[in-house]
Amino acid sequence: MQILHLDSSILADSSASRALSQAIVAGLLRQHPTATVTYRDLVAEAIPHLDGAIAAGFRPITPPAQAATVAEHARSQTLVAELLASDILVIGAPMYNFSVASQLKAWIDRVVQPGRTFQYTAQGPVGLATGKRVFIASSRGGLYSSGALAPMDFQERYLRAVLAFIGITDVQVVRAENLSRGPEARETSMRGAYAAVAELSPDSSAAH
Ligand SMILES: Cc1cc2nc3c(=O)[nH]c(=O)nc-3n(C[C@H](O)[C@H](O)[C@H](O)COP(=O)(O)O)c2cc1C
Repeated sequence: MQILHLDSSILADSSASRALSQAIVAGLLRQHPTATVTYRDLVAEAIPHLDGAIAAGFRPITPPAQAATVAEHARSQTLVAELLASDILVIGAPMYNFSVASQLKAWIDRVVQPGRTFQYTAQGPVGLATGKRVFIASSRGGLYSSGALAPMDFQERYLRAVLAFIGITDVQVVRAENLSRGPEARETSMRGAYAAVAELSPDSSAAH
């Protein structure tokens, strides 16, 4: 059992998504004590944004490149290999400006590769990164799971969409909302999220 654990909050020790993703991984390790965890702190070790030269490395025939670009091509391949080798992904995903952290987007931009994690077919694109389960630790300052701001959720909806695009549909979300609405609201929300972590379905594909 291989777990790939990603964190993307810029808020270090005060981060809600980091605390929750850690709790999810701890729970998984209790269920699967022999599991191996690969951890990537996407803020401490930021992945440079995709550019044309780096994206050229996605193609089977890569044009000659500078040493720095060659290193970035190798990084892209490492990130894809880590994803494909994993059975479970745990993603700490705060909402920033209605979407995911740019550090997480930079990781996504490296692993969504034609021929590796999806392929184009006559019937349209097909995901290749199948057979994985994902747990998302989602944190938000406001309320998006219902109410007036729900259409502004380009974080969880985006993550579900891009994961489905590469073939991953077994996704469970642990969500802490209203975190910017005062200490009481934050505490209530975090208590609920930790309770949700404890109730996560270990083996089924029950998507929350
Ligand atoms: C740069 C930045 C942008 C944010 N944008 C939003 C937002 O669009 N909507 C929202 O509800 N909260 C927003 N927040 C609040 C965060 O979602 C909230 O602080 C959450 O706890 C972040 O997760 P983290 O604690 O794991 O970093 C933002 C926070 C920061 C720092």
